[in-house]
Amino acid sequence: MFLKKDRSSKDKKQIIKLYKDHVSSGKVDFYNKYNMDFVMGHRDGHWLYDIDGKKKLFNLHSNGGVFNLGHRNNEIINFLKEQLNFYDIGNHHLISKPRAELAGKIAELMPGDLEYTIFGVSGGEAIDVALKIARSFTNRKKIISVEGGYHGHTGLSVQTGDDQYKAPFLLDSSDFLQIPFNDLEALQNVLDQDVATVILETIPATLGMPLPKKGYLKKVKELCENNGTLLILDEVQAGLGRTGKLWAFEHFDVIPDMVVLAKGLSGGIYPISATVIDKKLESVFHDNPFIHISTSGGAELGSSVALKVLEITSNENFLKKVNTLSDLFQIELEKLLERHHSFFKGIRRLGLMMGLELKDKLAGPVMTKAAYDNELLIIYANNDPSVVQFLPPLIMDEKDIKHVVKQLDRTFNEARVLHTALKLKDNITSIFK
Ligand SMILES: Cc1ncc(COP(=O)(O)O)c(C=O)c1O
Repeated sequence: MFLKKDRSSKDKKQIIKLYKDHVSSGKVDFYNKYNMDFVMGHRDGHWLYDIDGKKKLFNLHSNGGVFNLGHRNNEIINFLKEQLNFYDIGNHHLISKPRAELAGKIAELMPGDLEYTIFGVSGGEAIDVALKIARSFTNRKKIISVEGGYHGHTGLSVQTGDDQYKAPFLLDSSDFLQIPFNDLEALQNVLDQDVATVILETIPATLGMPLPKKGYLKKVKELCENNGTLLILDEVQAGLGRTGKLWAFEHFDVIPDMVVLAKGLSGGIYPISATVIDKKLESVFHDNPFIHISTSGGAELGSSVALKVLEITSNENFLKKVNTLSDLFQIELEKLLERHHSFFKGIRRLGLMMGLELKDKLAGPVMTKAAYDNELLIIYANNDPSVVQFLPPLIMDEKDIKHVVKQLDRTFNEARVLHTALKLKDNITSIFK
């Protein structure tokens, strides 16, 4: 039993039943099937504790970057407490100091003419805004995205993604096209005078972190520019220091027309997202500046928190530390690669944005389960389950890396055994039993 037990009066079974009856019966059935009944209770830094205090997990997923600064980061919480003496959500009809200051800071930290920001609450909302702006500015309808990429589940963002998330909602549209990542020829073949925008994650996380080939993003931008098409880079996961630079696209000598930020901008505390646009695109709002509204987007408390997040993550020493940690991980992961080469096949890595390549598509789910049993939260890439996403908090230290590597070593051993057993049974449904 861990000491970090939640003080909630409800016991875990009651909570799970409430969730099943009033939030999602399907999710509860899913976790039951796989024998995973973790309910997030106390959380602190990189640790999550089950609400009954009986299990803990080292968060190596960071919810795609939401918890870049760890859970309940003290500096963020204390700052938010101060802001609560003065601010609330604010009023989106009026001019706002925190929004102005945050947008000003983002403009200062972005290269080129990326000078305006439209705030939202979620990543999907911010992507929708980017797509709306692209259509309005170009007066074109077609939107090109990457097969296996992921930009959210809201109105337009979901249409850039997989069929499985569109079909149940009758959202198919011939205006949305997909091409393979890292394939310039495929892009050339679809670019025509109707294409408003190409949208890409700088490093597609849900596709298992394939890194852009040398020169790829630069060439994409060039092709777009020559075609009067705008380039949107989704840095919802890759931005904010994750790759060792503040913005991941800085590694690739490219400046997009729009950048989308979310997840980590919240400090894991107050949801906020940002669509950062080239100043030329602001003309979309000249005739009527009220054609896009988000009541809680850029809430004044959230804007204050995000400003603090930017202050922390843009600091040179912070980024230096991310790079030091990522070098250490590379050394340790290479050792594991050698020790477990029949199961663990390769490392995809830029800074602390990492994907571990495993032997096949069964191996990712198996690894997720074996990691869970070894107190690690690791999640396989939904659109390529042969890769597990490896996104540790950016605030770790060397001691944490040693701990994680020790647990990973055990996890690989258990995953290999489980994988062999399942292969023999040829039965994926019993993975988590
Ligand atoms: C790359 C990327 N873009 C957009 C989104 C959508 O963000 P949200 O879930 O906040 O709508 C996500 C969410 O996982 C994401 O990973």
